[in-house]
Amino acid sequence: MRAADIITKKRDGAELSDNEIEWLIKSYTSNEIPDYQMAAWLMAIFFQGMTDQETAALTMAMATSGDIVDLSQIPGIKVDKHSTGGVGDSTTLILAPLVAAAGVPVAKMSGRGLGFTGGTIDKLEAIPGFKTTLSHREFIANLLTYNIALTGQSAAIAPADGKLYALRDVTATVESIPLIASSIMSKKIASGADKIVLDVKVGNGAFMKNKTEAIRLAETMVGIGQFVDRETIAIVTNMEQPLGMAVGNSLEIKEAIKLLSGQGELALREVCLTLGSHMLVLGKKALTPEDGYRQLAALIDNGQALAKFKEFITAQSGDSTIVHDNTKLPQARFIQEVSSLEQGYVTAMSAAQIGYAAMRLGAGREFKGQAIDLSAGILMQCRLGQAIRRGQPLATIYTNDESRLEEAGLMIRQAVRINTQPAAAIPLVMGIVD
Ligand code: URA
Repeated sequence: MRAADIITKKRDGAELSDNEIEWLIKSYTSNEIPDYQMAAWLMAIFFQGMTDQETAALTMAMATSGDIVDLSQIPGIKVDKHSTGGVGDSTTLILAPLVAAAGVPVAKMSGRGLGFTGGTIDKLEAIPGFKTTLSHREFIANLLTYNIALTGQSAAIAPADGKLYALRDVTATVESIPLIASSIMSKKIASGADKIVLDVKVGNGAFMKNKTEAIRLAETMVGIGQFVDRETIAIVTNMEQPLGMAVGNSLEIKEAIKLLSGQGELALREVCLTLGSHMLVLGKKALTPEDGYRQLAALIDNGQALAKFKEFITAQSGDSTIVHDNTKLPQARFIQEVSSLEQGYVTAMSAAQIGYAAMRLGAGREFKGQAIDLSAGILMQCRLGQAIRRGQPLATIYTNDESRLEEAGLMIRQAVRINTQPAAAIPLVMGIVD
């Protein structure tokens, strides 16, 4: 086979065979095909799309490009959760201990943030001593003892996706439904989950900008799950503003602790309880999502969810006293309020721009491998629909780099649109695909 023939076939809109896709992915993973040919192939997919059969073949080729984790020695149904990526989205920090406290084993592999979206591994590194890389033996041992283990995405899991994702990031080929679907599902299949709950974000702070596209992405991933016999459910959720109030690593840890203690932002709580309720149904710990929702709310109210979070931190060598004393988390030297120059109602918010502002403050990476400031970020002080007076704070910004304060403040003022009339509210949970 020749890569150029496969690129031509896709460019001209013909369907590729399973063999052609497998060969291409294998050859690219073993460095026999250069980036420039793969980039051309990705762009052809971006414009021509893929059939369901092609998307399934690409998913399996990437899933089997490295190790497949075997979790069979862990009793119970292992239910994984994955978000398509958002801003102020600390759901994994909250959901993992919450669902583990309800009796569903949580075996989670997470990634780092890139661009305007955050990553769970960076957030957990804000906890002093927390170990984000576990050996396979430690991962299994923690699961057996505590029902929860979380580790960074190993390079041995779906390495083809690792290479392709880095290439897509620099060739404007990220926002493609078959490419996102196969990227996410290949990692989920390789990480050994029995069942999968997906949080598909839609809005200006997500890869999918409208509901129609988000539902198509959700249907594609659920279809792949059916094809490989891993029951999958996708919840489509709104990302028209940061999900929680905190954007940035140490700030999101504090927000997660607040949520697990029964306080905090209602939208974040609602998304966590909705996703978690479906995880409990798939894990056969709840009969209905409503039953699951009630169980999870009770675990927050009776303190068991927070206790599991502390246990999880200790099990991974972190300092769990941060739960009661958050001054032990990284603290920024420069803290400033960004106040509104206008009066009216918050009618729109660019979640992506707020994510970029947090990145400029030091919370995220502008290039791969860059060191980040774990204390940096933004605490939003306003929500969509809220009435605002001139001079009222829109957000508080945190950084160790004083020179970034002015630029970030400007970005936040640009990101929050204020109008004389309030806009209609958009529902938080916009659809469920199963
Ligand atoms: N998350 C992933 O893992 N892959 C994508 O392509 C997009 C979001």
